[in-house]
Amino acid sequence: MKTAAYDDLVLRLRAAGCVFAEDEARLLLDAANGSLLEALVARRVAGQPLEHVVGWVDFAGVRVALDPGVFIPRQRTTFLVDLATEVLTGDGVVVDLCCGSGALGLALAHRRPGIELHAADLDPEAVACARRNLGPVGGTVHHGDLDAPLPERLRGRVDVLVANVPYVPSADIALMPPESRDHEPRATVDGGADGLDVVRRLAAIAPGWLAPGGTVFVETGTDQAPPAVAALASAGLDARVHHDDDRDATVVASTWRGCGPWS
Ligand SMILES: C[S@@+](CC[C@H](N)C(=O)[O-])C[C@H]1O[C@@H](n2cnc3c(N)ncnc32)[C@H](O)[C@@H]1O
Repeated sequence: MKTAAYDDLVLRLRAAGCVFAEDEARLLLDAANGSLLEALVARRVAGQPLEHVVGWVDFAGVRVALDPGVFIPRQRTTFLVDLATEVLTGDGVVVDLCCGSGALGLALAHRRPGIELHAADLDPEAVACARRNLGPVGGTVHHGDLDAPLPERLRGRVDVLVANVPYVPSADIALMPPESRDHEPRATVDGGADGLDVVRRLAAIAPGWLAPGGTVFVETGTDQAPPAVAALASAGLDARVHHDDDRDATVVASTWRGCGPWS
């Protein structure tokens, strides 16, 4: 793409500090023209994340619609999706807790179109966004705290539970890039003092939902993996750590071997 408009846009984006100005200029010119394009560029130059400005992100091979204020799925989380895909059969029951935009469930539904998919989040804006993404693949999105809104009939029936929960230690949030700090609500990332508050809650509730042999997948920081394993193991789950250097991603996968109190 070599036009005066493109060259001008690259210069404006570069001046605003956009490292990938050429790529961003192409995406913005594809997204809109005229006054709408100008409005999008103004938002980007003011510091809004590109994904919120154009309204989507490519994640694990699918296009995920994204609204401002909703957590932007990170490419490292595709590792969790890859691990979950390996154990998922075509007609499995999948739950995506702390689903945000619904990106994880959407990617799994594309890879295993026969699954029964449920997702849930506490934030109404995330729920609305996830409904937009998961409605077309037959997913159901629930609104509420962690597992509270899930239908009781799923107890003891979940084959794969994916949960990219908030896991940044509270004190580290100040060190995050401004794009995240200023445009993703604190509740999307803040995991408490050691970052593992929600992971511990997840460990406590997971055995009640998982089918025998079912697995819960949760992303953590590398240093957080041992205490996360301890929390999941103390809940009776068989927990293992997976790490991918290329994506700088750590996932704890924990399988429920026993029979839950609901089975
Ligand atoms: C790190 S973001 C991940 C979103 C999505 N899983 C992804 O990877 O793109 C965490 C999400 O957890 C949600 N959340 C935080 N606390 C929650 C809670 N107690 N119950 C349900 N959702 C919660 C936030 O609203 C946010 O959407």
